Amino acid sequence: MILGIETSCDETAAALVSADGEIRANVVASQADLHARFGGVVPEVASRRHLELVAPVVREALDTACLGLGDVDAVAVTQGPGLVGALLVGLSAAKAIAWARGLPLIPVDHLHGHVASLFLGSDPVDPPFLCLLATGGHTMLLDVHDHRSFTVLGETIDDAVGEAFDKGARLLGLGYPGGAALDRLAREGDAERFSFPVASVPGLDFSFSGVKTALLYAVRGLTPSELQRRRADLAASYQRALVRALVQRTEQATEAGGFDRIAVVGGVAANSELRAALAGAALAPLELCGDNAAMIASAARYVNPVPRPDYLALDAYASRQAA
Ligand code: KG4
Ligand code: ZN
Repeated sequence: MILGIETSCDETAAALVSADGEIRANVVASQADLHARFGGVVPEVASRRHLELVAPVVREALDTACLGLGDVDAVAVTQGPGLVGALLVGLSAAKAIAWARGLPLIPVDHLHGHVASLFLGSDPVDPPFLCLLATGGHTMLLDVHDHRSFTVLGETIDDAVGEAFDKGARLLGLGYPGGAALDRLAREGDAERFSFPVASVPGLDFSFSGVKTALLYAVRGLTPSELQRRRADLAASYQRALVRALVQRTEQATEAGGFDRIAVVGGVAANSELRAALAGAALAPLELCGDNAAMIASAARYVNPVPRPDYLALDAYASRQAA
């Protein structure tokens, strides 16, 4: 039984996952409301909130699973990438629990965690496959050749697609984080009303900064009442451009790499238009798209545990580590 802890951004999460990938508990406490008035995650505020929430969230996960710390065999925790202050809260909590109970600690990479959201449940998706990882911080195409590791085939050279969704939502007055709200508004609009081209960059990389600027100019060109009237069309057209860019690159990579199977993970994998466009792909379950600790515990099953006391020296990292 693995206890997973995730605090890389603005979700405080704890989960219990068995060796065969059964989720016994998956608790996520979102801080989104706390950060909404700032229009984005404030790192210092996030760290302090993680500190308040981490123990209660772990307790709730154990209660949900009807388990005690005595039933836990290892503690898994996100080491990075993410906000260092936020990560350190989870890492310190995990070290403390592991130390107190004489357990090994398993440091997990957050991106590996998103991929491992596919390895859970009774019908897991097993490698090899091509994986589109689309979150608020990353946009990547991965060659997932085994459960332990992957090779990056392409990634964004500027904004992540989730960031593009959030910035677009903000321009349309949808609040933070706006990806899901933009998705909902887009359903009421006509995606052909505005044309938002997405820059094509060489290879299998992505670029989303230009389309965001295009939306900014479109919004600036409208009067407040026009904007109000055409908001849904703007959302639908903007989303169409983002999804098209993701789908095109994914199809290109599938062909180039000769992949038989495609998978999609990360917060943006919850997007309804993307899910419909890649309906043949293995899509992460909706409840495991956004940040959670079940995916961290899942990945931990394929990472070597660090014995006591060596794990006390582990530090968090902010940016993606080279494989
Ligand atoms: O994976 P995630 O929870 O956190 C990171 O690791 O970044 O992804 C969060 C991102 C945010 O940008 C959020 O707006 C976006 O996922 N998102 C969506 C949808 N639901 C969440 N974007 C588009 N459509 C959605 N339905
Ligand atoms: Zn994430």
